[in-house]
Amino acid sequence: MNRVKPYVQSPRRDVPSSIPRPEYVGRRSPKPYRGSDVQSPAIVEKMREAGRIAHLAIKEGARIIAPGVTTDEIDSVIHEFICDNGGYPSTLGYRGYPKSCCTSVNEVICHGIPDGRPLEDGDLISIDVTVFKDGVHGDNCMTFGCGTLDQASADLMNRTREAMERGIKAVKPGRQINVIGRVIEAYANRFGYGVVRDYTGHGVSTSFHTGLVILHYDAPHATTVIKQGMTFTIEPMLTIGDYRSHVWDDDWTVVTNDYSRCAQFEQTIHVTRTGAEILTAP
Ligand code: MF3
Ligand code: CO
Ligand code: CO
Repeated sequence: MNRVKPYVQSPRRDVPSSIPRPEYVGRRSPKPYRGSDVQSPAIVEKMREAGRIAHLAIKEGARIIAPGVTTDEIDSVIHEFICDNGGYPSTLGYRGYPKSCCTSVNEVICHGIPDGRPLEDGDLISIDVTVFKDGVHGDNCMTFGCGTLDQASADLMNRTREAMERGIKAVKPGRQINVIGRVIEAYANRFGYGVVRDYTGHGVSTSFHTGLVILHYDAPHATTVIKQGMTFTIEPMLTIGDYRSHVWDDDWTVVTNDYSRCAQFEQTIHVTRTGAEILTAP
């Protein structure tokens, strides 16, 4: 299998000046979040709208997936959709990241930068979109096949979605946060998949990354208790081979050391009295 390589990036897309930006745009890094892990109902209500747009943006981008289509064209569709809905694409200008989504192909685990690479038949592509609207973020990711996927890639994709869903179902107030990684890793182990450790889920609300960390592997030391009103992502990255990774010279693109393929699904959730509500839903 050919390795993914960087291609030329298009110029930065602009966002209408009428659309409010997150505070970090134009700065080196975001202000540290000092708020609570538990959000007010008013914040959660805003997150439903940011999350809804973020989810629909992925679906719009995914519609054009086909051999020959570039990841930059997908970025363009997603960028326009978000702006048309009055949102700001949270990744654009986040710590210098240059695009409105992440497109991670085959052995790319996450943070792939959309560029001029044409998709090939059989590629696996993850699209990760975050939207900032009305002061809050909604963050989600899905993996798709381009053309006809080989069976191993299709299985990886479907089982990674299932792993995320099991992680979400494990969420209940009063449980320790480590329950999430425990169920995800146990499921991944059945198939011998690697569970990526260096990139995690995270608290998300008025900040893109609040500091709350959600591990996707079993980590008994992660004893934070899940509370009603918490908002965070669950976003497992599973690999066909080893989970260990390195970063390209672009300082963003994360790939598996053994170049084995990776899939990722992510949702932003809100902890309810009895479980979890998905905020990145249509
Ligand atoms: N959306 C990614 C996440 O799930 C973060 C992307 S940050 C970027 O946390 F700068 F790489 F875009
Ligand atoms: Co995320
Ligand atoms: Co994301």
